[in-house]
Amino acid sequence: MMNYAHILRSYLKYRKNAVNAYGVHAPFLFNLLQDVIYQKSDPADFAVIEKIRRQLLKDNSLLRVRDFGAGSRADKGSSRKISKIAKYSAKPPRVAALIYRLVKHFQPRQILEIGTSFGVSTMYMSLAMPEANIVSMEGCPETLAVAKRNFQQAGMENIRLIEGNFDEILPAWLETVTELDFVFFDGNHLREPTLRYFEACLAKAQPQSVFIFDDIHWSEEMEAAWEEIKKHPKVKLTLDLYSIGIVFFRKELSKEDFVIRF
Ligand SMILES: C[S@@+](CC[C@H](N)C(=O)[O-])C[C@H]1O[C@@H](n2cnc3c(N)ncnc32)[C@H](O)[C@@H]1O
Repeated sequence: MMNYAHILRSYLKYRKNAVNAYGVHAPFLFNLLQDVIYQKSDPADFAVIEKIRRQLLKDNSLLRVRDFGAGSRADKGSSRKISKIAKYSAKPPRVAALIYRLVKHFQPRQILEIGTSFGVSTMYMSLAMPEANIVSMEGCPETLAVAKRNFQQAGMENIRLIEGNFDEILPAWLETVTELDFVFFDGNHLREPTLRYFEACLAKAQPQSVFIFDDIHWSEEMEAAWEEIKKHPKVKLTLDLYSIGIVFFRKELSKEDFVIRF
């Protein structure tokens, strides 16, 4: 259940503290802001994906959705329109384009997305780096079938989908990889599982890895998770862009948290 009072409070606090490129002096961050975060993308680059989004937003067919919301306990499933899921689950173009620019900039070889839904954000990452290995995880089979169809329509071939509850498929898949370069955490927005998935991925991170957390201010649970992530001894620089949080582990950086106007 969305807590609007919490969202309003956290957004006002964010706006009060947020700085732009002129409020930072560290060269890594200044360059990242100038070259990536504040760069404008050309919407024409995403035409294929946004056409698919428009189709989804108009699609009133029903899916039987397996809901993992409450602490990953799957219920029997309820029916929801594709249009509604697309409206509320997929990252909006502005945030998706930022994820695209981050992938293009850092050139990660192994990308993991925790939470596929219809694969809108997955397609942005695939477009940014067609040579990357992208693994995306999703627990709802009918949702995943729509994502597969979208990847075919977009002609994207570097995405591997893994179906199941993150609690089980994430640790199992992590055992098969040596390094994780880029992780987008976008599912099961509760404190305990977010931190558990973070720790699990951290074991395969290297100093150049980039982790992105969605909806860090969406609820008090997510605020608490973000606070603990920032404090983690392996974490160096963190950026709070309100809708997402970005985490860096580079040894040359000092441990600092920035609230960035976006
Ligand atoms: C916010 S959506 C992902 C949106 C997608 N990244 C995008 O921007 O286009 C989160 C997805 O995570 C899935 N999910 C949530 N908790 C899960 C769990 N414990 N195991 C598997 N899937 C889960 C939901 O079914 C949902 O489709």
